Amino acid sequence: MQTHLNATASSCAAPIGIFDSGLGGLSVLRAVRAHLPAEQIVYVADSRYAPYGQRDDDFIADRTLAIGEWLVAQGAKALVVACNTATAQSIALVRERLSIPLVGVEPGIKPAALISKSRVAGVLATQVTLRSARFQALVERHAADLRVLCQPGHGLVEAVERCDVSSPALVELLRGYVEPMLDAGADTLVLGCTHYPFLDTAIRSIVGERMTLVDTSVAIARQLERVLDQHGLRAQPASPGDGRMAEGASARFCSTSDGAHLRTLAAALLGIDAQVECVSIPSRRTRELEADAA
Ligand code: DGL
Repeated sequence: MQTHLNATASSCAAPIGIFDSGLGGLSVLRAVRAHLPAEQIVYVADSRYAPYGQRDDDFIADRTLAIGEWLVAQGAKALVVACNTATAQSIALVRERLSIPLVGVEPGIKPAALISKSRVAGVLATQVTLRSARFQALVERHAADLRVLCQPGHGLVEAVERCDVSSPALVELLRGYVEPMLDAGADTLVLGCTHYPFLDTAIRSIVGERMTLVDTSVAIARQLERVLDQHGLRAQPASPGDGRMAEGASARFCSTSDGAHLRTLAAALLGIDAQVECVSIPSRRTRELEADAA
């Protein structure tokens, strides 16, 4: 195991940057707070430019890099790209360009292959994730004997971004995606987008106990723990009176949009009263967009 002996107490105390195209990464933040309660977190929701699933590859890489660099400038000691779409599209580039350790996320194909008894599993993810070479390689590596039914979750990220996790229209949209999987014999459903764990109650209302839902957020928190340990970057546990919350890592919430939905979802789904900072993180592609709009 690689250990960086030059990590100092101040680098251990630095925050972890977590970023998503929008609110979905809150499902990863929830797991990280629970698993690594001594860590400080800076969360960035790029809600102004969500969903990434409808963006071109260059746009996603441009935003992922700009936000990663911004988080490094904020003092982040490690970065979690809590977005399957950004990971699938640009993790290799970002890994090359940033000086801090990185953790990406990917659909839970490997756990699905271990769990499925019927040997048929559905995957809900964005179109960009499903068509990526990284996803194709994941299926080839771990699911050679599994029938994988890929379904782009059009409209689901948008629903979560407006804090809709249970409306009748949303349930009908989901039904159209998962019922054909049930009809084809799937007993496992991979939630291949970090927004989708917030839809678990709605999905359960359709599939009941007929499917196991695979959400990798806890595995991501464990992977982050391993990476921090490899680099000697784990924060020390809070001591009484040092101001850190005992019940979970403290977090700074930032949004490139007005932040209202980030605050609502953090309160409704995580029980956090988040004071959201509105931040501007310009990048090459967003400067072009703004120049075109002017
Ligand atoms: N949470 C992102 C993911 O995991 C959503 C991508 C999007 O904005 O379309 O893929």
